Amino acid sequence: MTMTGIDAHAPRGAPPPGPRLPWPVQTALYTRRDRWARRLRAKYGDVVALDIWPWRAVVFLYDPAHVQAMTGSPPSRFHGGEGNLPLKPVMGEHSLLSVDGDEHRRARALLSPLFTKPAVRGYRDAVRELAEHEIATWPVGSPFPSYPRVRRLALRVISRVVLGAEDDPRLPLLRELFDVLPAVDIPVLLGLPSPVLRCWGRWRRAALTLDRLDALVHAITADRRTDPRLAERTDLLSRLLVAAGPGALSPPELRDHVVTLVIAGYETTASTLAWALHELARHPAAARTAASGDTDYLEAVVKETLRRHPPISELPWTLTEDVELAGYRLARGATLMPVIGVVHNDPAHHRDPRAFRPERFLEQGAVPAHTWMPFGNGVRRCVGANLAVLEAVEVLRVVLARHSLTADRRRPERPASRLVTSAPARGARIVLTPTGGGAR
Ligand code: HEM
Repeated sequence: MTMTGIDAHAPRGAPPPGPRLPWPVQTALYTRRDRWARRLRAKYGDVVALDIWPWRAVVFLYDPAHVQAMTGSPPSRFHGGEGNLPLKPVMGEHSLLSVDGDEHRRARALLSPLFTKPAVRGYRDAVRELAEHEIATWPVGSPFPSYPRVRRLALRVISRVVLGAEDDPRLPLLRELFDVLPAVDIPVLLGLPSPVLRCWGRWRRAALTLDRLDALVHAITADRRTDPRLAERTDLLSRLLVAAGPGALSPPELRDHVVTLVIAGYETTASTLAWALHELARHPAAARTAASGDTDYLEAVVKETLRRHPPISELPWTLTEDVELAGYRLARGATLMPVIGVVHNDPAHHRDPRAFRPERFLEQGAVPAHTWMPFGNGVRRCVGANLAVLEAVEVLRVVLARHSLTADRRRPERPASRLVTSAPARGARIVLTPTGGGAR
């Protein structure tokens, strides 16, 4: 065993250090965790023990070698589905995000082939068409928050990709329900399992929205099963039904796959697009190079955005056995959480980490693979990563072909911390100036 590996044979050592605050205080700090996570590392080091509800035993990891040991472990050692517990009331018990073991392996085997690079390339034209339509409505010459706009666009894109062309009159209502569902609001997610809170305020509204959403998704998927054109359709739902075979997926399983793909697919991509616009508006040289339409450079812009502002902050994987890591004993049931944003912005791994420099992704070896993990790694690596990068590249291509961007203020925006996905707190305010260019 090395100090960076995970040893499960004869785990020894003391538990990792960490704050002694009561769990309600630590849970409250977690809901505003960006700065807290950095302070914890400065005080306690690379492995920090915490007590956060609903997991209770949580261990923050900050060393990429430890993260690599975690994501490279045999799948039986960790239950990532259990780690995603707070997402379950929304994503559902059959969601790829919620399941573990054999059920996870089977669901991944079904879903992964739908998201290969050649498979997602088929959605490029739809992305461009929807982006052109949306961007034509953006104000020119005055500051506006771009986040709500790219969020609306990302929701349109993912509902087209998952459910198909806009020939279903139920789609606008479905999008509206997804739009108002606080699916990534941490206090709402933590309160949803409580029958008491579900009768009250924001939790009651979320539960009612979820009921309406479920009914609509069930109706749409039931119709799709019997669609005579199923085999010709190119949307993910139809491809999933064909791949699984007739009757193989139950209505609740289908509901959970659809809801998961839509939510996991659009909140994250909207965050990426908003931060990309935020950065490009402050880095005119990078924006000019990206405006040339060069795909490699646009991809580097997206990757650098994901490095500086990873949409998902942690990878919560729950241990199924006692192990030793870095000389500490970690008990079965503890949830390990690599803190992605801290690893991505650590000067030990990235030169001048606070600088937005897409070029680093074009330089050989400048970003070692295991120090960049916005999509996670290993058996639970994001299934939608190829689609997310394609979508972000194409949307930025369309924006930059028409407009140059500036920021309304020099000072960068902070992330809005209450959310599971990172989003710029002032909504990524930008100013557009037409360049007179057309689509490339
Ligand atoms: C920039 C956009 C995105 C980012 C940053 C992102 C990030 C992530 C991360 C960090 C994970 C968790 C990995 C882990 O637990 O170890 C994940 C899992 C997942 N993502 Fe994404 N994601 C993005 C876009 C998408 C899209 C477009 C889809 C689908 C349409 C998607 C579907 C999923 C699913 C289903 C999982 C669960 C995988 C599993 O547990 O096996 N994501 N994503």
